[in-house]
Amino acid sequence: MIRTLLLTALVAGALGCGDPAYPPNVSRVVGGEDARPNSWPWQASLQYSSSGQWRHTCGGFLIANNWVLTAAHCISSSRTYRVVLGRQNLSTEETGSLAVKVSTIVVHKEWNSSQLSKGNDIAMLKLANPVSLTNKIQLACLPPAGTILPNNYPCYVTGWGRLKTNGAAPDILQQGRLLVVDYATCSSSGWWGSTVKTNMICAGGDGVISSCNGDSGGPLNCHVAGGHWEVHGIVSFGSSLGCNYYHKPSVFTRVSNYIDWINS
Ligand SMILES: *[C@@H]1O[C@H](CO)[C@@H](O)[C@H](O)[C@H]1NC(C)=O
Ligand SMILES: *[C@@H]1O[C@H](CO)[C@@H](O)[C@H](O)[C@H]1NC(C)=O
Ligand SMILES: *[C@@H]1O[C@H](CO)[C@@H](O)[C@H](O)[C@H]1NC(C)=O
Repeated sequence: MIRTLLLTALVAGALGCGDPAYPPNVSRVVGGEDARPNSWPWQASLQYSSSGQWRHTCGGFLIANNWVLTAAHCISSSRTYRVVLGRQNLSTEETGSLAVKVSTIVVHKEWNSSQLSKGNDIAMLKLANPVSLTNKIQLACLPPAGTILPNNYPCYVTGWGRLKTNGAAPDILQQGRLLVVDYATCSSSGWWGSTVKTNMICAGGDGVISSCNGDSGGPLNCHVAGGHWEVHGIVSFGSSLGCNYYHKPSVFTRVSNYIDWINS
């Protein structure tokens, strides 16, 4: 028993992921709230260059010191991208924050933008330079391959997306508590039906909190046994009826389905 515990602790320490220096304020606040500064240190802002300015378009998260994971639908082959890490307020320079150019983009080969409901909405961004990990920039942990979270498991979606349908985009990173909706429920009629596939994970759908435009590509963070955070989902799509429509939870790419793809 003791040996097992020690081994677990050593492995977690060696991975050095999912364990923020500034732990997030977890709460049951409904509707989204400002995140504690630097408490989701793997959160990235994906930005593209437009007439000399960098614009936030999507979220993402750091999985190695030179790789960021995001959603495939965030990527347009004609654009130039950079990734901003260690940031709380997108509208201001912050010490400890940095911007890194993206050198290579790997979009999942089975992604098809005309068939969003087939899934595979995942892309990897290779950074032009590896970043140094600090107490404000840390790696996300990914779940073991095949992990399925049970219905109602609490997780947090984070991003700089709009707080409500057609609302203003916030400066400050937002977090929202969402409960996982299992595949059986999410794919039932009255919910998403056959639009949702097993390579996706649903969370939310209470009609109050959800991810919204601009959160795309960002992480669904779930606290797991062992005391660390794992990213189980990548924000993929929501309902065109609105950002937090009843029984239309946010739909995420299920990260645990893509561990082999990520590793290769
Ligand atoms: C986080 O929690 C601490 C302690 O409860 C509180 O002082 C702080 O204001 C909270 N920060 C945010 C951004 O909610
Ligand atoms: C974020 O930064 C901008 C620009 O400095 C500032 O105007 C704004 O008040 C900041 N937002 C918050 C919530 O501190
Ligand atoms: C993507 O899906 C569309 C619509 O179903 C199809 O016509 C097209 O051939 C697909 N593209 C690829 C590259 O598979």
